Amino acid sequence: MRKIVIAGNWKMFKTQAEALEFLQGFLGELTETPDDREVVLCAPFTALGALSRNLHGARVRIGAQNIHWETTGAYTGEISGAMLQEFAVRFVVVGHSERRQYFGDTDETVNLRLQAAQKYGFVPILCVGETKQQRDAGETEAVIIKQIEKGLVGVDQTNLVIAYEPIWAIGTGDTCEAVEANRVIGVIRQQLKNPDVTIQYGGSVKPDNVDELMAQPEIDGALVGGASLEPKSFARIVNYV
Ligand code: 13P
Repeated sequence: MRKIVIAGNWKMFKTQAEALEFLQGFLGELTETPDDREVVLCAPFTALGALSRNLHGARVRIGAQNIHWETTGAYTGEISGAMLQEFAVRFVVVGHSERRQYFGDTDETVNLRLQAAQKYGFVPILCVGETKQQRDAGETEAVIIKQIEKGLVGVDQTNLVIAYEPIWAIGTGDTCEAVEANRVIGVIRQQLKNPDVTIQYGGSVKPDNVDELMAQPEIDGALVGGASLEPKSFARIVNYV
């Protein structure tokens, strides 16, 4: 059975105080949320402690946004698995297009980060997706297949989430058509050894398009940026119908 995972990716938003303020507005909205939906907040490192201490008994899981593959070392600005283990972290976003584009992550380093996340007992959320230029050139499938093949070398597919995030749909309000997102996710699933991997869609998921996206048979969840920052908006997404 494929699990439904709805995750907010807060990116570089929210101080500890703002994260706690979010929880105050958000947790009360989850009373009717079906039990089979995993609800995740991927927060900045500095908010992980505050979230860990304030989620006892709540059904919300915590995610981090990066992990380095070495245990310790001279890697300024990076974070290790042991450091994340001090918090109640369950998920780690790996290979987000913003990391690939602005911070030099490659399929090879993404693969190392995925393996590290699993070694420390986290569920990695591997992000893949094509640029507008690649889509227009008809390269979508080839780009994604390469990201999946290279990213998943030596990775345990029983402990994994994949997010299909077309780069042109991120932060633009230009959501991928639900049917097309479903099609590409089907292509991703064909590349996997384990067909039960949860595959999310990400890219301008909003309260007004989540129902249609989640109605697609291949789409098992959402990775949500902007619309996860506001409690009511993210609650509506989590409580999609
Ligand atoms: P938006 O929902 O803001 O488009 O961001 C998507 C994303 O990048 C989630 O990881």
